[in-house]
Amino acid sequence: MTKYIINGGNALHGEVEISGAKNAAVAIIPAALMVDGVCRIENLPQISDVSTLLNILKQMGADIRVVNKRTIDIDCSHVGMSRATFDMMRRIRASYYLIGALLGRFGSADVAMPGGCNFGGIRPIDQHIKGFTALGADVSVKNGIVSAVTGGCLRGSSIYLDVVSVGATINLMLGATLAEGNTFIENAAREPHIVDLANFLNSMGADIRGAGTNVIKVRGVRRLKGGSYSIIPDQIEAGTYMMAVAGAGGRVVLKDVIPKHLESISGKLREMGVTVLELEDSVVVQRINPLLKTHIKTMPYPGFPTDMQPQISTILCIADGTSTVTEGVWDNRFRYVDELLKMGSSIRVIGRTAIIEGASYISGAPIKAGDLRAGAALVIAGLCARGLTELEGVTYIERGYEKMVNKLSALGADIQTRYVHDEPQFLVKGVG
Ligand code: EPU
Repeated sequence: MTKYIINGGNALHGEVEISGAKNAAVAIIPAALMVDGVCRIENLPQISDVSTLLNILKQMGADIRVVNKRTIDIDCSHVGMSRATFDMMRRIRASYYLIGALLGRFGSADVAMPGGCNFGGIRPIDQHIKGFTALGADVSVKNGIVSAVTGGCLRGSSIYLDVVSVGATINLMLGATLAEGNTFIENAAREPHIVDLANFLNSMGADIRGAGTNVIKVRGVRRLKGGSYSIIPDQIEAGTYMMAVAGAGGRVVLKDVIPKHLESISGKLREMGVTVLELEDSVVVQRINPLLKTHIKTMPYPGFPTDMQPQISTILCIADGTSTVTEGVWDNRFRYVDELLKMGSSIRVIGRTAIIEGASYISGAPIKAGDLRAGAALVIAGLCARGLTELEGVTYIERGYEKMVNKLSALGADIQTRYVHDEPQFLVKGVG
């Protein structure tokens, strides 16, 4: 087992480089399955969700060559319908993108129901199924396996999503790319990684318009050709470091970001008394005075991201006054609150809203992460707290944050990784 040991109280100073976007990478890697030729993917984040997906593709017969630590070549010419192990697929949420990609390439797909972060409620895929059915697939779910078949290939259609779903928008874009005819995805999600996937596919020969708006039009093409593409910077990783500086204090330059993607986060931080300066491809965050209370509701992009909700709730625990945070995307995303309570914070959750009474300080404690963003939030809590925090469950963090401990240490945080060999390794392997 690995723990992070954090001695709180150090302000953060210096520069941090933001990695490529996890949620773009996990859509673009499966998309490579549809490409006829070699895809060079640059600016890949070094995180375990990416390694898991690359291993799945390898099991399916893809030829993957590491060019350097951020760049790989993927050649899927020899991929057959042979399956990757369902066990591997179940480890990550993004394995559901294999449905769209395999349907596009082979006209059929068998994929294990996705795993990924469990916030405490269900993570349905009914909109994906509705969309693939509209595109002509026969979809069934049995014993945790999603099977989708067509008579040959998908056929373009109009699909109205009943909820704004990032995953369904991406999956249907994938499926529609090699379909026969035109597809319209209405009430589509608009997140930056949706635009990134569309740009990747278009650069390989697809014809997708409107990504980034709520209607996406995909004109099916016969084939995609190889090429190279660089993934956008991670909006949520950047936002997480912005919260860390706001919580711990100090001044940090975040390099390699797209400031426009951070607008809702920068806006909230300014309301809380933090200085955020936007430059061309960097932002400077500085916090000197005490944080001020605010009120937030998470929403699909361009609203305040749900994936930043645990991090901002954490720093509101030390803001002046009473704040409210309403979760507008997931039914239940407040499980981490119990851990913050152990650190002396004052939070009441009523339905989808957390009421946070700011305190002058919180205290270090032994705590445990239950999912990726909760884990990042608890690291921030440790940085802001007085005394020592021992954080368990860090495998979740490593799914989506590249070298978080190194990046924070370089900014002056007192944080270390500790390996605890108190259990036989086979009992703790393969968490994810
Ligand atoms: N929903 C449905 N039916 C569906 C799909 C979604 O009702 O078929 C509902 C969900 O229950 C939820 C809402 O729609 O209430 C939004 O879900 P969405 O489909 O947008 O989420 P997702 O695609 O499963 C992605 C990110 C999540 C992020 C959400 C929302 C990936 C791999 N995951 O999940 O990221 O929270 O969008 O922005 O892209 C993370 O990175 O930590 C993470 C959890």
